[in-house]
Amino acid sequence: MEVIIRPTADEAAELTSRIIKKSILEKPNLVLGLATGGTMEVVYDKLVCAHKEDNLDFSLCRTFNLDEYIGLPVEDKNSYRYYMNKNLFSRINIDIRNTYLPNGMAENYTAESKKYERLIRENGGIDLQLLGIGRSGHIGFNEPLSALQSRTREKALTPVTIEQNEIYFEPPESMPKRAFTMGIGTILDARKIVLLATGEGKAGIIAKAVEGPVTSMISASALQLHPKTTIIVDESAAKNLEEKEYYHWLFENEPEWDEYK
Ligand code: F6R
Repeated sequence: MEVIIRPTADEAAELTSRIIKKSILEKPNLVLGLATGGTMEVVYDKLVCAHKEDNLDFSLCRTFNLDEYIGLPVEDKNSYRYYMNKNLFSRINIDIRNTYLPNGMAENYTAESKKYERLIRENGGIDLQLLGIGRSGHIGFNEPLSALQSRTREKALTPVTIEQNEIYFEPPESMPKRAFTMGIGTILDARKIVLLATGEGKAGIIAKAVEGPVTSMISASALQLHPKTTIIVDESAAKNLEEKEYYHWLFENEPEWDEYK
């Protein structure tokens, strides 16, 4: 795991989008794992810019989202399919048939989860997985106590997550209390992982996930087990990290970061 600190949220999102851009340039048929949420909106805006201004070509890419609310049809503006179509897919040249999310209206949860795992496998596995982190420490919707080897399944959301996300729902109580999510084991199978966290509200959980012990109480801590994970934070989200000086040094001195300066 490596930690990169950028001065502002915008610069952290910029670095994230440039890593994605580079991966697509290196492998045009990249299999990209995607997240939703407020943090990612800026990243998607930047990818749209890269498509419009630098001709970044998504035509051969395939995408798999981490999660979807159970009980929301695709046309519901709070479904993650709606979010992805609005924030990214409708604004770039991706073939919509190559964009996958779990079907939130599936009645057989086990069958839907197995199907999603199979689709990921059939597409060759995820090359680059993009992650955010919830205040509960979740990645995807892997809430505390999710098994570190878990696979895609249906999961009940914690009160912290419901409080974090119900602001998007009208009325707030209409927020679904369950979701399909890739498991932690599914996420750890990705060849490379980038987690982006910005803002002071994430400082406490980032410090626990990055510098604390690996524990199923904080799903993001499982990323410490992955050989190619980059955590990108802004100064605010880095606030509680003890080894900040070292992380700054890494960005300034490791040659792999030269092209991003
Ligand atoms: C959503 C997802 C979640 C979010 C997390 C942070 O697809 O995977 O883990 O990344 O809840 O959300 P924001 O960015 O809204 O703080």
